[in-house]
Amino acid sequence: MKDKIAELLKKAVREIDTAHEVSPGLISALKVDINKDRSRGDLSCSIAMPLSKALHRNPRQVAEDLCAKLAGLEGIERIEIAGPGFLNFFLDHDYTVRALERMCDDPRLGVELCAAPKITVVDYSAPNVAKEMAVHHLRSTVIGDALVRVLEFLGHQVIRANHIGDWGTQFGMLIAYLEEVENSSGQGMDLSDFEAFYRQAKERYDNDEDFAVRARRYVVQLQGGDEYCLGMWRKLVNLTMTQNQALYHRLDVTLSEGDIMGESLYNEMLPGIVEDLIERGIAVEDHGAIVVYLPQFKNKEGQVLGNIVRKQDGGYLYTTTDIACIKYRVDKLKAQRIIYVVDSRQHQHLLTVWEIARKAGYAPEDVVLEHCPFGMMLGKDGRPFKTRSGGTVKLRDLLDEAEERVSRLLSERGSNFEGAQRQEVVHNIAIGAVKYADLSKNRNTDYVFDWDLMLSFEGNTAPYLQYAYSRIRSIFRKAATTPGAITLTDKAEEELAAKLLSFPATVTAVGSKCQPHLLCTYLYELSEVFMSFYESCPVIKEGVPLSVQQSRLKLCELTSAVLRRGLDLLGIKVMEMM
Ligand code: ARG
Repeated sequence: MKDKIAELLKKAVREIDTAHEVSPGLISALKVDINKDRSRGDLSCSIAMPLSKALHRNPRQVAEDLCAKLAGLEGIERIEIAGPGFLNFFLDHDYTVRALERMCDDPRLGVELCAAPKITVVDYSAPNVAKEMAVHHLRSTVIGDALVRVLEFLGHQVIRANHIGDWGTQFGMLIAYLEEVENSSGQGMDLSDFEAFYRQAKERYDNDEDFAVRARRYVVQLQGGDEYCLGMWRKLVNLTMTQNQALYHRLDVTLSEGDIMGESLYNEMLPGIVEDLIERGIAVEDHGAIVVYLPQFKNKEGQVLGNIVRKQDGGYLYTTTDIACIKYRVDKLKAQRIIYVVDSRQHQHLLTVWEIARKAGYAPEDVVLEHCPFGMMLGKDGRPFKTRSGGTVKLRDLLDEAEERVSRLLSERGSNFEGAQRQEVVHNIAIGAVKYADLSKNRNTDYVFDWDLMLSFEGNTAPYLQYAYSRIRSIFRKAATTPGAITLTDKAEEELAAKLLSFPATVTAVGSKCQPHLLCTYLYELSEVFMSFYESCPVIKEGVPLSVQQSRLKLCELTSAVLRRGLDLLGIKVMEMM
């Protein structure tokens, strides 16, 4: 209710500010507070005073105007104006109870399906072939998968697009090297270490002229559709993606093989795209290359930047592929919204691609193009996250370490799980912790990867939330009665109720802003509010009247359902016991 009133007040302010005298800052700073002294109403807002200054009007009159705009709002019993113009809101408590009961009966927990579902392409994960999935791919994978889950839950038709880097001149060298490895080791080839494979291929290329000549020939042959080269290329793609699929599975990420739409998919479109750009006067020839000049993108010296879409030698680039890719997504997939979960360093690249696609009409104005950027993952020293020897951290090793650490932690905590059950608990906590550490930070900023913080059972972490869930479930194992009709009498109950009721708005906000951390913050706050409720409102203690026990059990049940659903939307599992 608090957020809803704040939203409506903002709207009301804009409406009474007909001459645009109010600064946007004042409006966005508007907030509704929970009153300590409930005899003066449950909620209050003091916007009328600063607002009256901006409007050069009497504050009490301004307060009255605001009141009038909110009149008849369901859930509010009355609004009082106090002192110089404070707005005090008295809530209709029956309304809250009714809303909670409705939420309890609703498998969607009050989250409505969106009125205008969109065909939404989410471009995420996108690792590169014959390379190890690195930590920035982890960020894209984890954030993208949470968004996909939320958008689907909100009723959008989501298309997962794994834009893997499966094309480019490096494949000549990789094919030539794969050939050598296969010839020398027969079948028993171990390609699990891509980093070593890539490095060795590069070494051969740099130091052996015959090898380099062969590699260059293979590039040309591959591009010409030669069967042998295509076969070798496919092997490399399959080897990489089999490994990556196993990682997705381990991470509880919903990407499947069918979602792979790599760069190679757009190859055939590239010559036509470049011709079309020339014909439309968007691209021009410059020293044998085909270039698009966009006046809005200048370098530091103020010169207009050129974007090459076809090189002198006829080769195409990452940019050309991404332009074709938009056309494909709009024409073939019928995309209405395309979300790129790609690291922030590629922002300029995306802006360029979009601008060209808009100009060429491949992305009509009503197709929403969105960059959902994220910062880097840093080590505790504040530098990019690396292994001790300075190499890139492999995702597999990272997950192994997470599981080892959780296993140790459980032993220290005296956990008595064994065998498969123990493995499952270890897995759920480890994967949950790694994902949540990433999701809980505002994605726009870099974030520091810190094992101790993310695995802590205190604070805003997955283990804390998973533990909160298990604790609530344990109440039901001890209870002698079942959940019943809700009555709200204690202040802590009311606060829990208010928090529970703001779940739907939170999920909707995550879907529109592509900000999973909003849901994390919400779940953490919910757990905290729940803990205060649990401390001050005994649920199954002796002496608590049966009806009160039943009402409180119902609040417990709803809290656990919201935690489970919320964590599920983030791709994190809960356990009945842990
Ligand atoms: N493969 C790229 C990389 O590793 C990311 C691709 C992102 N998606 C796109 N449509 N450009 O950086």
